[in-house]
Amino acid sequence: MLPHPPLPDRYTTLEAKPEYVNRLFDKGAKYYDGVVDWGFLKSGSSYRRWVQERHGLKKGHVVLDVACGTGLVAAAAVKILGTAENITCLDPSEGMLAVARTKLAARFVQGRAESMPFPDNSFDFLTMGYALRHVMDLEVCFREYCRVLKPGGKLLILEVTKPQGRFSRFFFQLYFGRVYPWLTRLFTRSNDARDMMRYYWETMDACVPPAVVLEALSAAGLKAVKRDTSLGLFSEYTAVKP
Ligand SMILES: C[S@@+](CC[C@H](N)C(=O)[O-])C[C@H]1O[C@@H](n2cnc3c(N)ncnc32)[C@H](O)[C@@H]1O
Repeated sequence: MLPHPPLPDRYTTLEAKPEYVNRLFDKGAKYYDGVVDWGFLKSGSSYRRWVQERHGLKKGHVVLDVACGTGLVAAAAVKILGTAENITCLDPSEGMLAVARTKLAARFVQGRAESMPFPDNSFDFLTMGYALRHVMDLEVCFREYCRVLKPGGKLLILEVTKPQGRFSRFFFQLYFGRVYPWLTRLFTRSNDARDMMRYYWETMDACVPPAVVLEALSAAGLKAVKRDTSLGLFSEYTAVKP
């Protein structure tokens, strides 16, 4: 189950997507934190912490942050856990991992969500922030999450989802599709950073609806599958390994 149809303007065959995405984030890595900081009005760190707390992250949990990027979700988890020693961060982009390593004393692993180098039943809590659109197949990825979670372990996926209403959709498109990439270029003077944010928009625009994500989570064998939203924009998908 694809998270979005292939984007022919970005890569010619679906097989070329992982390499394309990897290059995009490698090149954009040094700008990522700055750009998402002002782009989300400096709310990103407190939101990432609040949402993990609200969905049950507790001291003592062994945590896997998939698609950790520069470590923003994991850094928020450290504020709850009090330490990074039980956190593993996984990402395929060496550029993003290099930035994350400068900020966190967690365990870092280069790898992809679809096939992770961890034993079965390893983690109490698994997070994935704003990366669902980048995997090759939703169900394959969710089966992998189910495999590495301990029985009773919790999955939390954060995403930005296109709103439903006509007006909110219009402003969403205007901001993420035009204003945000334009301001990114203006502030960073980097075409790589602008491209990363353009791709952010294109994949959000093309993304399958939440019902398909929920269906894929159930099909992967996860239970208590649910989607909560904040401001009608921020999706929090949760599920539990039986
Ligand atoms: C928008 S960043 C999100 C970073 C971070 N989670 C956050 O909350 O800001 C998306 C990340 O997904 C990673 N990524 C892309 N494809 C992936 C895959 N197949 N498996 C795991 N991570 C992937 C990218 O390298 C990038 O670091």
